[in-house]
Amino acid sequence: MIYQNNGSRVKVQSGCRLLAALLLCAIHFPVLASPPDEQELNALMEQGREIYGKTCVACHQPDGMGTEGNFPPLVDGAAFEANAAITGPLEGLGLWEDGVMTLGEDKLKYMIYIVLNGIPGTRMFAFGPTLSNEEVAAVVTYIRNAWGNNKGDVVTPDMVEPLRR
Ligand code: HEC
Repeated sequence: MIYQNNGSRVKVQSGCRLLAALLLCAIHFPVLASPPDEQELNALMEQGREIYGKTCVACHQPDGMGTEGNFPPLVDGAAFEANAAITGPLEGLGLWEDGVMTLGEDKLKYMIYIVLNGIPGTRMFAFGPTLSNEEVAAVVTYIRNAWGNNKGDVVTPDMVEPLRR
């Protein structure tokens, strides 16, 4: 009897251990399966740089710093002063605060959304009609990682599609 009790206790314990191991696997596996893939990031950066050079550079400039009073910097923490017609919509999106661009972790979605759909009433027009999901993914990956932004974000086309309006 005693032996059997011990036996079943051992079974319960190892069952717990198995469950804990499965949980740990579930938590760690996605992290292990997708470390920010250098190669994927580099390929997207290259494609994104090309699109940026053709499509965005005239306003946001090669160094991503825009032009004072007109085109906002795409560089995290960069100063930008302009009249309220320009800063207002940016402030509303949480991308500008007290004269500084804030393009932090939670702003990725807004940036994809803006590139696709523009900012109504400003010169930032919608690129959704002319850029594919792949191209938007590449150019947003580029602006999130260029010029020292280094967010590590790898944007995929399936993150872009649901934000099309
Ligand atoms: C014709 C000029 C013009 C072009 C071309 C342009 N933008 Fe903009 N962009 C603007 C302006 C102006 C704003 C600010 C709008 C406002 O006042 O709210 C802006 C804002 C933004 C913002 C949000 C603010 C910020 O600094 O993060 C992002 C992101 C952005 N643009 C990305 C792009 C990307 C990527 C491209 C190329 C695919 C692009 N823009 C092309 C004029 C332009």
